[in-house]
Amino acid sequence: MKYTAIILAAGSGSRTGLEMNKVFIEINGKKVLDYSVDFFKNHKDCNEIVLVCSNNDFNFIYATYSEVVDVIITGGSTRQSSVYKGLNKATLDYVLIHDSARPFILEDCINQLVENVKETKASTLAVFVKDTIVNINGNRLGKTLHRSELLAIQTPQAFYKDLVLKAHEKARDNAYLGTDDTGLVARFTNVTPAYVIGDYRSIKLTTKEDIDILKVIL
Ligand code: CTP
Ligand code: MG
Repeated sequence: MKYTAIILAAGSGSRTGLEMNKVFIEINGKKVLDYSVDFFKNHKDCNEIVLVCSNNDFNFIYATYSEVVDVIITGGSTRQSSVYKGLNKATLDYVLIHDSARPFILEDCINQLVENVKETKASTLAVFVKDTIVNINGNRLGKTLHRSELLAIQTPQAFYKDLVLKAHEKARDNAYLGTDDTGLVARFTNVTPAYVIGDYRSIKLTTKEDIDILKVIL
């Protein structure tokens, strides 16, 4: 099954506290974004890459990646709007949506995800949480949640494109802003998304401490 990879890089990385967009930070001699671009460029089932970047980064991105990826577009002010713009450029029936802020990608996991989405139409990589997670009640602890029933959602997330497009359109019409795309499919379509167990090393670079961790992982 062939798919379009939508690589998201249109954020600003504000939580790193650095002056630059985190996807351009070099870790072990390579930009964070390049780990994703190189992976999908080489993956056997990836037939198209749509790279979504911010207005600020467009000139640099165009100069660097126009020969490497198929489409470069500017994103929106939210991750959700960036995804939606990317979906509208994808030409294949299936899409994999990936946060380039997650540079560690295992081919095995992607192959399993691709197999899974053929049956399920919506599927994400995810890992079981390791910490005990507790609800809070003001400054007191509330109920402890069952770790065995809790997943931390990762990317890529894989979809039959028309399904995820429909979910995005309904979310937009309802002014609903979600945090990931399986969440939109769950809420706005009659398909219940599935999951494939990912890898704990596939962390998202969010704060600057994550750079030290990624130096070891990548
Ligand atoms: N992203 C995007 N368009 C946006 C916001 C985010 O394409 N308007 C992308 C980011 O580039 C990143 C991914 O979505 O690869 C996950 O988002 P997040 O980790 O929140 O990145 P940022 O929004 O850049 O970081 P922050 O929230 O700290 O500003
Ligand atoms: Mg963000």
